[in-house]
Amino acid sequence: MKANVSRRTFVMSSGATLMAALMSACGGGQSGDAATPSDAAKQAGIDYMALVNKTHALPEGWEDAVEIVHFKNTEDWDVDVEAKAYDAYLAFKEDLEADDVYVDLDSAYRSVAAQQEIVDDFTKKYGVEYVKQYVAVPGYSEHHTGLALDLFLIIDGKGVYENEDMVLYPELWSKIHAKLADHGFILRYLPQKKIETGYSYEPWHIRYLDDVEAASKIMEEGITLERYLDELDPMIADAEVDYASSKLYTEADIDSALEVVLAEFTSWTGCTLKRISYAGDDACTAEEIAWMNELREANTPDAEEFDQTLVFTSDFHSPSEKEAEGTAWEPDADYNNWTWHLGRVGADGGWQLMTWGY
Ligand code: DAL
Ligand code: ZN
Repeated sequence: MKANVSRRTFVMSSGATLMAALMSACGGGQSGDAATPSDAAKQAGIDYMALVNKTHALPEGWEDAVEIVHFKNTEDWDVDVEAKAYDAYLAFKEDLEADDVYVDLDSAYRSVAAQQEIVDDFTKKYGVEYVKQYVAVPGYSEHHTGLALDLFLIIDGKGVYENEDMVLYPELWSKIHAKLADHGFILRYLPQKKIETGYSYEPWHIRYLDDVEAASKIMEEGITLERYLDELDPMIADAEVDYASSKLYTEADIDSALEVVLAEFTSWTGCTLKRISYAGDDACTAEEIAWMNELREANTPDAEEFDQTLVFTSDFHSPSEKEAEGTAWEPDADYNNWTWHLGRVGADGGWQLMTWGY
């Protein structure tokens, strides 16, 4: 595999550039031969702990600084990866193979244009709601760093790479995840952590940190990179999320409803969420659907009727006296068992938040 690797970019590829860099490091090189801004960016390197998520775009200058290697995977697909992450991946893969676990790389570095292609393809294949749960908006994908790697499984010599097939092997993923930290990787999109990462569970998406100690802490504590870096929105940082159990909805269904509720909640300046829980399948009654439809009809009489409903209960703390001024909130108070009511049309329709309160 390694024999196929070609270096798309490398720091100081010519003697002249090397000389320029040496002279500049020694305070010399007053004319002509100065290193280019791109050489300087490469020398400065990348921040392996950089956070890229729904609110943090790819850091400026990254494309100039990152060193990408190119290889062909076992399916003969072209894959680009950040150089150190690739070396770590090869060691990780070897470690897994010692236990008869076989993986390969589906996709790692992606340009903004490549991410847009994925958005378009997945929208056709899985629909808009799926894309919101699993695919980043171009410019905000961790894949732009080259440090995010999507694995696929090789079972009995055959590649298993469709998302819906890969999730059928939880025990295999546990074995894979157990070895990540030793090689400086973490599992990036943990189950039931959408409130922190912005995405539903992706067992295949791993992230290189180039720091075994940090990766071990993150994996042992089962925390997100956002929490480790203390980059969580204070409005939701202390919130416990309870998915309960549901026969009606998948975790991703509940995640997509949660996203809609959080978009509203995070506009309530000064409030802090303490808990949010799926109220259970028992709350999804015919009466509840009828009520959602009454509200829908009052606002959009021509819209299609809801046939599904979902309810959350929550606890939150209202703003301080100063922040609550001019609002309807009782200042500095606990609001417990506040409910949120949503409806949607079919499993592929988006959730609509119809009402909230007591
Ligand atoms: N699947 C991850 C979130 C991405 O598209 O970057
Ligand atoms: Zn990914």
